[in-house]
Amino acid sequence: MKKTRIQRLDGKKVDVVLHLGNVFVCSHGLCCGKAERGYGPDLRELHQAEWHRRKLGQTVYLTPSGCLGLCALGNTVLLIFQGKPLWFHSFNTAEQVSALYDYIEAMVKAKQLLPVPDTLRDSVLDREVHPDMASLVAALEGPSEPRIGACK
Ligand code: FES
Repeated sequence: MKKTRIQRLDGKKVDVVLHLGNVFVCSHGLCCGKAERGYGPDLRELHQAEWHRRKLGQTVYLTPSGCLGLCALGNTVLLIFQGKPLWFHSFNTAEQVSALYDYIEAMVKAKQLLPVPDTLRDSVLDREVHPDMASLVAALEGPSEPRIGACK
């Protein structure tokens, strides 16, 4: 396992493994994995099994995460590969999980980001090109109104 020496802000130099990617699987939120509440089933063990089986630990880190903020679209997964985020929603089947790790494995072998395969395309949420994203950004840039109390 190759480590890279990086200097922290306190001046101490430490050796860290810089992974090619990271998979965040929403696992500790209130929705994803809660089939009894109408969301997708808990597939954490399947993610871990696929990740272990393919021996991805040296190159892509797997993180069971808290809520990723897209609860109504659960189950959600965020894959960051070489710095590029890819969001997946409605990730509720063993076939999707297997296809995700097929995709990751292919990118690790190619050492580069590859196009999303057809098997996963329907579950991708492309936040960058979603038609509502421009209006959301415009709303943030527009005349500001007090947002106190927005989070309740
Ligand atoms: S609980 Fe999974 S995105 Fe919120």
